Amino acid sequence: MTDRKSILVVEDDAIIARDIQQTLERLGYAAPRTARTGDEACLAVEASAPDLVLMDIKLRGGSDGVEAAGRIRERWDVPVVYLTSHSDEATLQRAKATGPLGYLLKPFHERDLRTAVEVALHTHELETRLARSERLASIGTLAAGMAHEINNPLAVVMGVAYSLRRAMHGADEVLAGVPGAEGARAELREAAEGLQALDEAAERIRRVVQDMRRFVRPDRAERQVLDLPAVLDAAARMAEPRLRQSARLQRCYGATPSVEANEGQLVQVFTNLLVNAAQAIGEGDASAQRVELTTFTDERGRAVVEVRDTGPGISKQDLPRVFDPFFTTKPVGAGMGLGLAVCHGIVTSLGGEITVESEAGRGAMFRVALPPAPRVKTMTSSSAT
Ligand SMILES: Nc1ncnc2c1ncn2[C@@H]1O[C@H](COP(=O)(O)OP(=O)(O)OP(=O)(O)O)[C@@H](O)[C@H]1O
Ligand SMILES: [Mg+2]
Repeated sequence: MTDRKSILVVEDDAIIARDIQQTLERLGYAAPRTARTGDEACLAVEASAPDLVLMDIKLRGGSDGVEAAGRIRERWDVPVVYLTSHSDEATLQRAKATGPLGYLLKPFHERDLRTAVEVALHTHELETRLARSERLASIGTLAAGMAHEINNPLAVVMGVAYSLRRAMHGADEVLAGVPGAEGARAELREAAEGLQALDEAAERIRRVVQDMRRFVRPDRAERQVLDLPAVLDAAARMAEPRLRQSARLQRCYGATPSVEANEGQLVQVFTNLLVNAAQAIGEGDASAQRVELTTFTDERGRAVVEVRDTGPGISKQDLPRVFDPFFTTKPVGAGMGLGLAVCHGIVTSLGGEITVESEAGRGAMFRVALPPAPRVKTMTSSSAT
C-alpha cells in the first residue's frame, strides 16, 4: 500500500510537463501521467482519481484550463492548483470562481511547487473532514429523530404480537377438545407462523434502531481503565466464527498505555472491524489470507490499534463514505452500513480518532487511536516541616 499522493499535470507544453513531472517525483509524489487538453484531463481524472491536479490555465484545444478545472472540481471533487503565466483579468476572475486551492506563477522554483502542493493537499483534507463532520451531524439529528419515532409504534407492534400469541394459544387449547374444529386449528397454526415472522422482523427493527441510537449518542456507559490486549482478544473471540472461514488472524501487540472506556463498547469497535475484514475477504482459502491486529504507542502517547487485512480494499470513491451511517456495499439484508458509524461514534466519544487507509486491490487498514487513561493521582504526604 503506498501513501504517495498522486498528482495529475495538465500542461500542453510537453517539455514543461515532463519537467514538472520529474520535479514532483523528486519531491516524493507520484505523477504517473500528464494531460495536454482539458478533455484529456477530465478523462485522466475519471480513470485514475488523482489527489490533486496541477492545471495550466491556457491550453490548446477546445476547452481551456479554467473550464476543465470547473468540471473536475464539480464532478470529482479533486482539488486544483493553477499554473499561470500572464493571464488577463477576465480569465483570472473565471479561474477564481472555480475555487482553486492555489496559483503558481510560471516559471517557478521547486520550492514554490512544493509549498503550493502541500498547502493544497492539506487544505483539501481539512475541507473534506469538515464536510464529513457536518454531514454526520445532520444525519445524526435525523437518525435520532427517526429512532425515537420508530421506537414508540414498534413497542405497540411487539406488545400486540405478544397478546395475540397468548390469545391464540388459549384459543387452540379450547378448540383441542371440540370435535370438528381441526380446520379452525390449522388456520390458527398458520396464523401463529405468520406471527413468528412478524416477531422476527420486529426484533430486527429493534436492533437497527438500537444501533442507530448508539451511533448518534454512544451511551455514557460506565468506563474503566482497560488494557488493549485483553480487549482485542475478547473482540477476536467474538469475531472468531466469521474470521475462521476467511483468514488467519495475526496478533502483534506492542506496548501501549491503558485506556479509559466502556469495555463492551470498545470490544464492539474491534469486533466490527474484524468482522468487516472477514466479510471483505469472503469465505475461501483462509490459509492464504491474513488479518493483522497490531498495537503501538504513537508520538502523541496515544494507544493505537491497527486492523489490517489482505482483502479487496476500498475504492477511492467509497473511501470518504465508509463511516457514513447506512453506507454499505453489501447486498440487502447482509449489511446495514451501521458498523463503522457506530465505531466512529464510540471512538470519538472517547476523545479518540478512527481513520482508514486503503486502495482497491490492496487490502484495508483501519487505525484507532485512543488517548491514554488519565494517571491515577497518588496521594503523597506533603512533608511537614
Ligand atoms: N476491511 C474492509 N475492506 C473493504 N471494505 C470495507 C472494509 N470495512 C468496511 N468496508 C466497506 O465499508 C462499508 C461500510 O462498513 P460498515 O461496517 O459501516 O457497514 P456494513 O459492514 O456494510 O454493514 P453492518 O456493519 O451494518 O453489518 C462496507 O459495506 C464495505 O463496503
Ligand atoms: Mg460492518
